[in-house]
Amino acid sequence: MTSAARSKSLNIVLGVSGGIAAYKVASILRLLTEAGHNVQVVPTPAALNFVGSATWEALSGNPLISEVWDDVADVPHVRIGKAADLVIVAPATADLLSRAASGAANDLLTNVLLTATCPIVFAPAMHTEMWLNPATQVNVATLRSRGSIVIDPADGRLTGSDSGPGRLPEAEEIVSVAMGVLSEQDLLGQDIVITAGGTREFLDPVRFLGNSSSGKQGVALAVAARDRGAKVTLICANVSVSMPAGVQIENVITGDDMHAAVLKASMTADAIVMAAAIADYKPKSTQSAKMKKSEDGSSPRIELVRTTDILADLVTHRNTSHPDQVIVGFAAETGDTQGSVLEHGVAKLQRKGCDLLVINEVGPNLAFGTDDNEVTILTREPASQTTVSKTSKTQIAHAIWDAVIALQQ
Ligand code: CTP
Repeated sequence: MTSAARSKSLNIVLGVSGGIAAYKVASILRLLTEAGHNVQVVPTPAALNFVGSATWEALSGNPLISEVWDDVADVPHVRIGKAADLVIVAPATADLLSRAASGAANDLLTNVLLTATCPIVFAPAMHTEMWLNPATQVNVATLRSRGSIVIDPADGRLTGSDSGPGRLPEAEEIVSVAMGVLSEQDLLGQDIVITAGGTREFLDPVRFLGNSSSGKQGVALAVAARDRGAKVTLICANVSVSMPAGVQIENVITGDDMHAAVLKASMTADAIVMAAAIADYKPKSTQSAKMKKSEDGSSPRIELVRTTDILADLVTHRNTSHPDQVIVGFAAETGDTQGSVLEHGVAKLQRKGCDLLVINEVGPNLAFGTDDNEVTILTREPASQTTVSKTSKTQIAHAIWDAVIALQQ
């Protein structure tokens, strides 16, 4: 979301319906209040069987209203919904989704849902069978068709020994999706492809040549683009951070896998950001069995061959069939006797022929794996140079999208 929207204090209604995942919603409440928002929790009567009013009141700093008959003189069933900037319902049970889809108003939360004119985000959590049941799926489709956001549940451990789709996504993820709904939608309708992580080139079944890219910057780019309205495909090579909701994920391992996935996804892409660290060389051959140490103590010689330069290949394809596509490269540079980090970046932008190059200095404790970064964004035509001083990878992602949008105008 834009920095202005991020810093604004919002009136948020946190609806809680009666599922075991209600206990996790205390973390959502905490994240929202720590960000400075005023949160009114509205649990259904069933939700209070899982987490009591004292928890919600203490964490929100607001008295709890859960019944239409509470505080009647203040007409809460209308006031709360009308005053909200955002409504989040977590967990949204199958029953709550059904009542919301049918327009029922049989408790305070469903009254709030009917009177709210702001964005509404549902985070369902239930057993897999209930989630996949056609009745629930029809309710979800109905709510989405009316403009509500329904986050797909995560796949994982459920109550008891069961596991499968139906788990409440992590609190950070729900808050990120919900706040993103309020962002400026300046990438709406765009099809965007982002690569993240670091490729692996195998010597044998267990050993590989790789790098220490965490994938954090690529994931931050995907979240920022999603929040700004884009349809995002994130091609991940061995990414160690958790995957964002609302983004299509494709997992790859090697540079060749990455090449195939990127070429396929790029056919319809309006913009492609190559944030992944892709190996420049791979072993000429991969042993099918684990390599053994030599008996005579000699060191093995490993012959390497060049991998395909995916960025250069994209530029070639773009030039013939997608002239408006914006292609963004990253340049991980250290600077050396041949030139500074910036000089190497400027030369790389010309060499690669992409539209925009994000230069970052790499080295011990710099860029790879950290939460912050400092970059220079170069554009080729018209030539420009923007330095984004040390900030979060989220802010860097937004600065990159600002630069992409400026090029598209
Ligand atoms: N890249 C790519 N295919 C490769 C290698 C890199 O598409 N086989 C992309 C990266 O995703 C990045 C950009 O090219 O967007 C620059 O990567 P970098 O490693 O900085 O540069 P190299 O092209 O490898 O050049 P050099 O190693 O000579 O600096």
